Amino acid sequence: MSNSRVVPFFDYPRLFLDHQVEFIDVVKDVASRGAFIMQKDLREFELALASYTGAKHAIGVANATDGLELALMAIGIQPGDEVICCSHTMLATAAAIVTAGGKPVPVELGWDNLIDGDAVEAAITRHTVGIMPTQLNGRTCDMDRIMAIADKHGLFVVEDAAQALGSKFKGKAAGTFGKAAAISFYPAKVLGCFGDGGGVITSDGYMYDRVFQLHDHGRDIDGEVRCWGRNSRLDNLQAAILSYGLKSYDKVVDRRRAIARKYQELLGGIEELMLPPSPDANADHFDVYQNYELQAVRRDELRVFLRNNGIGTLIQWGGKAVHQFERLGFTCRLPKVERFFERCIMLPMNVFLSDDDVVYICDKVHKFYRG
Ligand SMILES: Cc1ncc(COP(=O)(O)O)c(C=O)c1O
Repeated sequence: MSNSRVVPFFDYPRLFLDHQVEFIDVVKDVASRGAFIMQKDLREFELALASYTGAKHAIGVANATDGLELALMAIGIQPGDEVICCSHTMLATAAAIVTAGGKPVPVELGWDNLIDGDAVEAAITRHTVGIMPTQLNGRTCDMDRIMAIADKHGLFVVEDAAQALGSKFKGKAAGTFGKAAAISFYPAKVLGCFGDGGGVITSDGYMYDRVFQLHDHGRDIDGEVRCWGRNSRLDNLQAAILSYGLKSYDKVVDRRRAIARKYQELLGGIEELMLPPSPDANADHFDVYQNYELQAVRRDELRVFLRNNGIGTLIQWGGKAVHQFERLGFTCRLPKVERFFERCIMLPMNVFLSDDDVVYICDKVHKFYRG
């Protein structure tokens, strides 16, 4: 193995190039049928997505942010309604609450860096209507706890499963615990399309009907207008591309879990790092490793060192938790989340990595800390 190489954080061109013959066939097939909007390819993908997750229904939408907003609109949240989410999430989680008319209440993370059940309970007020846990980095929260809190206080749960297709808690898929969930098909997601894309999954017939109407100008499945709505449809072509990807999704997840195992094996002994749980750490969790996010002492120096050695890393969301976007009106302090954001960094995690790439990355991390 050479001592220098380039390992981008995510190699976007390879998303297409590695399967270009097959993708060109998909495009030819769909485009030559003129099947661009709400055609059979979309329906087939929705059925495959529902079946893959175990949800009764799936609806292709323009992106996961829309999906979350539409789910909240379908529930009917009202101005002043508070929805609790973790501050360790993409701003999109909180933005969907705001654009649906509610008020996001960001709370602390727990030991697993996901929403903390105690913090959720402490944040409940008479205005609280729901909880929106984020199944972050491909890991599903302890949903026993979240659902118990929701049941006790009469709150709805909508999962932000943007990063968690295929992830499970106690054998049940992310996105199937609450009333509905949204999944993202942004290109760098474990299942990514060639642009923006998302899906809403639900097993609740009312939610299905309502989200369906809201995402297609208020029209129901027979084209009858039932309410005000808008256009947030998943393109038929993107759906066909996603169906192709979904067929080999389990293999992709296996590979990502193998890479996570390798990172654990090669980096586990470095005391300056706090790694995410390894795939075999806890049988209750099946993680799909959307990201490999760890905490590192001297994080910024490590990042520069890796960059100088050709290795791309990412600090999520510009290095800010939701409540740290002060211009958006947040005034709370959440010390655990803030501490996390001082030290978090993502190493490359995708199927384009070879075993040698992973060894190279780990070798450089060792060099940084041990010289
Ligand atoms: C946790 C989380 N929520 C929501 C979103 C929004 O997804 P989309 O870009 O499909 O709107 C993302 C996308 O990266 C995400 O990571």
